[in-house]
Amino acid sequence: MTSTAHIDSARQTVHVSLEDRAYDILVERGVLDRAGDEIARHVVANGSPLGRTAAILVNPKIDRLLGDRLRASLVSAGFHALTVAVTPGETYKNLATVSRIYDQLYADAVDRRTIVIALGGGVIGDVAGFVAASYQRGLDFVQIPTTIIAQVDSSVGGKVGVNFRSAKNLVGAFHQPRLVLIDPNTLKSLPMRQRRSGLAEIIKHGIIADADMYAGVASEIDGILSLKSAYLDYAVANSCRIKARVVESDERDHGPRATLNFGHTIGHALEAITRYRVYTHGEAIAIGMVSASLIAEEMGVCDNALTESIANVLRRAGFEVKPKPDLDIDEIIALTSLDKKSVSGSAKFVLVPRIGHATYGNSVPAEIVRAALKRQSAI
Ligand SMILES: NC(=O)c1ccc[n+]([C@@H]2O[C@H](COP(=O)([O-])OP(=O)(O)OC[C@H]3O[C@@H](n4cnc5c(N)ncnc54)[C@H](O)[C@@H]3O)[C@@H](O)[C@H]2O)c1
Repeated sequence: MTSTAHIDSARQTVHVSLEDRAYDILVERGVLDRAGDEIARHVVANGSPLGRTAAILVNPKIDRLLGDRLRASLVSAGFHALTVAVTPGETYKNLATVSRIYDQLYADAVDRRTIVIALGGGVIGDVAGFVAASYQRGLDFVQIPTTIIAQVDSSVGGKVGVNFRSAKNLVGAFHQPRLVLIDPNTLKSLPMRQRRSGLAEIIKHGIIADADMYAGVASEIDGILSLKSAYLDYAVANSCRIKARVVESDERDHGPRATLNFGHTIGHALEAITRYRVYTHGEAIAIGMVSASLIAEEMGVCDNALTESIANVLRRAGFEVKPKPDLDIDEIIALTSLDKKSVSGSAKFVLVPRIGHATYGNSVPAEIVRAALKRQSAI
């Protein structure tokens, strides 16, 4: 699918088939204003929200931008809307924040029928999901993601949790949402750097699973970043579809779910080495995808044309495609073996033999990673 002719800019529904944990992802401009009705229809067994509390977990900035619209739609659908303010930022994605949220839910005496709603980016989604997974042993959970990263990645698949000491997402759970509502119009206030960061994950989904979307995104980069192209809506829904199919095959991340980590082994190392202050997640992953392709070349898995193609698409999307020159290659390599996904200290890489296909669990000797990173520093 390389043309925009296939795009349906009206509602797109992606169903996630997970037995009794199945749910729908609705992608539609304007769906935020009908959130209350959609939640009543999809989450409340008899469709009657009478007496049910919807607890909106949101940071103050997103609350100012979108909170009133969500509250109005919940109240008009019959919910009691409760707002829980959460301090923004990755540094507050921790157990202290979770504990403060428990305090408010306790003070408001919410019951087990309460629906927890995450309104915001991936941080709020992960924190709110963990609260929903744990408070009173599990509450219904709805995601209303408002960054591209959250819309195409973190809101789908049920991984929720917080950071612990210096480890990202070390404490968490699998807790699938009951519904995901994606309104691409909510991205209008999202700064360009954050939009671009999310685009890296869309490109990643194309590389690992969908050559047509990879080509389509490559030809629609400007329209996606400006949010004007209906291809954005298609790419968001299709990314959810790709992630959903992977999650359906491996909900608990014992096998193929690892393919979603393409570019993340080096990407995570770059984020860690720069203490999360230099690169956005997408920027680090963009560089990591080029590293992974060069590694695949060195392993004889793909040819240079593939690396060139990936690097060119990423450059056109505005990404750097090699690590900053002051970063030490050996330090990057040392960090890859500490990656959460490494097994017994040996880094595992996702490799792409051709666009649309990915293999996971590939052990790569450090010399090969070093050779690839050296080549990358010269591209
Ligand atoms: N659970 C998963 O499967 C999964 C997958 C990928 C990422 N994540 C997690 O997601 C987090 C990153 O998510 P993120 O990139 O969305 O970061 P984020 O949630 O910190 O959001 C980035 C910034 O954008 C702001 N923002 C959000 N929506 C906005 C809007 N519509 N307009 C203006 N500003 C807006 C936020 O307030 C924040 O300052 C990380 O903690 C990562 O670990 C989780």
